[in-house]
This record gives sequence, structure tokens and C-alpha cells, in this order.
Amino acid sequence: MPEPARPAALADIDLSDLRFWSGPPGERHEAFARLRAHPPVYFAEPDLAPIPRGPGYHALVRHSDVVAASRLPSVFASEPSAISIPDMPREFNEFFGSMINLDDPRHARVRRVVSRGFTPRMLAKIDGDIARIAARIAAELPAKGDCDFVAEVAAPLPLAVICDMMGIPESRRAMVRENTAIVLAGADAEFLGGDGDAAAHRLLTAGGELAGLLGELAAERRRTPVDDLTSALVNADIDGEALSDQEIGSFFILLAVAGSETTRNAISHGLALLTDHPDQRALWWADFEAHAATAVEEIVRHASPVTWMRRTLTRDHELNGHHYAAGDKALLFYASANRDEAVFTDPDRFDVTRSPNPHVGFGGPGPHYCLGAHLARREITAMFRELHRSAPGIRATGEPRRLVSDFLNGIKTLPCAA
Ligand code: HEM
Repeated sequence: MPEPARPAALADIDLSDLRFWSGPPGERHEAFARLRAHPPVYFAEPDLAPIPRGPGYHALVRHSDVVAASRLPSVFASEPSAISIPDMPREFNEFFGSMINLDDPRHARVRRVVSRGFTPRMLAKIDGDIARIAARIAAELPAKGDCDFVAEVAAPLPLAVICDMMGIPESRRAMVRENTAIVLAGADAEFLGGDGDAAAHRLLTAGGELAGLLGELAAERRRTPVDDLTSALVNADIDGEALSDQEIGSFFILLAVAGSETTRNAISHGLALLTDHPDQRALWWADFEAHAATAVEEIVRHASPVTWMRRTLTRDHELNGHHYAAGDKALLFYASANRDEAVFTDPDRFDVTRSPNPHVGFGGPGPHYCLGAHLARREITAMFRELHRSAPGIRATGEPRRLVSDFLNGIKTLPCAA
């Protein structure tokens, strides 16, 4: 479908151009505010050669559109892919085709099995681990002096938690960290290099190594189950059906990338926000527990670590006065919905007491709502609680170095002093 003409007021905006995503965040927020004033705009797809370029996508930028589409998974489907604009070649789906890219009934089946690892009982059990790891990280910080907050604080906790849950041995964690960074780096040149074929190769190699690690672990747990999520998955039997090795491998990749990079970016944005808003930091620090719940939600809203998810129309449909045709792609821009002035008063303001805060940082209401949302909240809260306790003067001492990606609002490095 040819790209329909864009209103003149929006002619300078191209969400498919990486230059848009490498510019200052303030310019992006201003552009999204202009987009929200119009019906959803249709964009041509980015050039991701050698992957063939698809027909384009509708950009859903208003909170009401994102919520309505999330609520209608039978029309706005997650198959064939929720995490890439083009339909990925088959070999990608082998590693990256977990439930986030599935619709019911297959989605519901996998989600039922893996949800067992995320019940309040399981989370309560892992709470002790989270607090212990966060306390160690924070306690070691003052002695480090000036350092990179991402490497020293934000990155280690979420990955350690996922690895603990799955039962990944300490010796393999550096490999997991490296490969998850490659999988989620998207178009960032530093990770993937400029050449499309080489980038695809690195991505598949990273996926293969992660899946291979889980294959080994799954075989071990089949022989000798222990009290971890991998054992629960390999021995899961839902309606007579167990998860296949491929499902377990791709679920682990989903967890490792969805659970670690997102949370680490939320924590990094949290420090940058508290540094830029000393009044909000003083307010939170004055009574940590009283404001923790709203502060953590506000960090996720303001940062929106995941910028969008994709849906594909299963049939012609009219939504909020806009027509979508069967087969059309729609990107649900959480980053824009979370700044929608129709829902949030003074949306650019960072307000640790904001309530209500119906943000869609963990996705809109629907079957794919982030499975790890509670876990992420616990991790972010625990990390800031321990920083408040052991390194209360922690602050960013320079600008964040940002990941150039349309998909993730990532921070690669953030200089800090405790
Ligand atoms: C601040 C941190 C996080 C953010 C911002 C985030 C965001 C999201 C978003 C936007 C979705 C897609 C929702 C949709 O398509 O409707 C999602 C799905 C998912 N997330 Fe998270 N997430 C975070 C942390 C985590 C953690 C810690 C885990 C697990 C350890 C996790 C596991 C998942 C999984 C498994 C899905 C797929 C659910 C499904 O398809 O049913 N996430 N997340």
C-alpha cells in the first residue's frame, strides 16, 4: 500500500528514520505530541536489508488507541511478530518466536505454563534474592568512586535475578549478558555493525548460543529436577502437552532480553531522572517507603523502556474513527501514549507522587501484558531502596550515552558518583 499523504504539520517526522531516534529525546516528545493531534499516520518501513521491506505501518500514538488495540487481540494480532516491523525470516522465529509473537490458543498455552514461575508465591521466594543482590551492589558502590552506573548498578541485578530463577550457573552469565545485549541492540551500530548480513548473522549466533545453553540446562533438569523455573518448564505438562525444547529455548531468550535489558534501562533512567529533578529526589528520599510505589510507576511511565510493540490486523476494522485493513501493521507507541496530555496532567513532568498513573509502559490491558511487571517493580524498588540506604548521595555526573534504537529507550553508559 503506498504511503498516504501526511498532513503538512507532520511532514518533517519520519519514525522509520534512525536519525529521528538518535536526536535529543525532547525533539521526539515534541514530534509525538504533534502526531497525537492527528489521526494515526501511516509510515513507510525502515530499510533493514537484506530483510525485504514491508508495506508500512500505522503509528498508534494516543493512549486511547494503544489501550483499545491491546484489548482487541483477535483483531490486532501479535502474530506473525510483535517485536519487529518486518516479518522476520523463518530462522529468526526459531529463537525469537516465543509467546510474545503468538496469539491464542498457542499463546495462552505457553503463558499458562510459564506463569507458574511468576506467581506471588514464587515472587515472594525470589524477593530475598533480589534484596540480597541489590544490597551487595549498593554497598560496594561508595568504594568505587566515579564509575559507570549501568555497568556497576543497573545491569547486574535484573540479569542475576533471571539467571537465578532459571538456574543458570555463574560461569555462563557473562555469555548471557553479551548475547542478550546483541539481541536487543536493534539497529545500534556499535553492537551490530553497519552491514545488514553481518548483523543478521550476529543476531542468529547470539540466539543460537542462548538457546544452546538452555538446551543443555533443560537436559540436566530433565534428569535431575531442582527448585527452579527451568525444572518447572521441562516438567510442565498442560493438558497432556509439555513445552517443546524449542519453546523453552525461545522463552528463555524472551525472558533474558525482555527481563534484563528493560529493567536495567528503567533503573538507569531512574537515576538520570532523580539527578535532573532534585526536588523529586528530596521528596522521595525524605520518606522512601511512602513514595516508592508511585515513584517506580513514574520512572516506568517517564522512561518508557519499551517504545512500541507491533500488531497485525486480522480483518478490516474501524477503531476510534480510523480505518484499518486486514493485513495492515500497527505499531503501538507506548512512549507516546505515556505522554498523552488527554490522560496525564503535565505529561513531561517527572512526579514521584503521580496518582493515578495509568501508563502503558508494561503494555496495554490484554493477554500480552508484561508477565514480569511485578518482578520488574520489585527489582527497581529494591535497587533504589538499597541505594537510598547505602549510597544516598548517588547522582549522575554526566549525560547518558543512549542506545540508538527505535524499539528500546536504552542507556549504554551513565557516569555516576556515589
Ligand atoms: C521495566 C521493565 C519492563 C518493561 C518496561 C517491560 C515491558 C513489556 C512490554 C511493553 C511487553 C509487551 C506487552 C504487549 O505486547 O502487550 C512485555 C511483555 C513481556 N515481558 Fe516485560 N517488561 C519489563 C520487565 C520484564 C521482566 C523483568 C520480565 C521477566 C523476567 C518480563 C517478561 C515479559 C514477557 C515474558 C512478556 C511477554 C508476555 C506475553 O506475550 O504474554 N518483562 N513487557
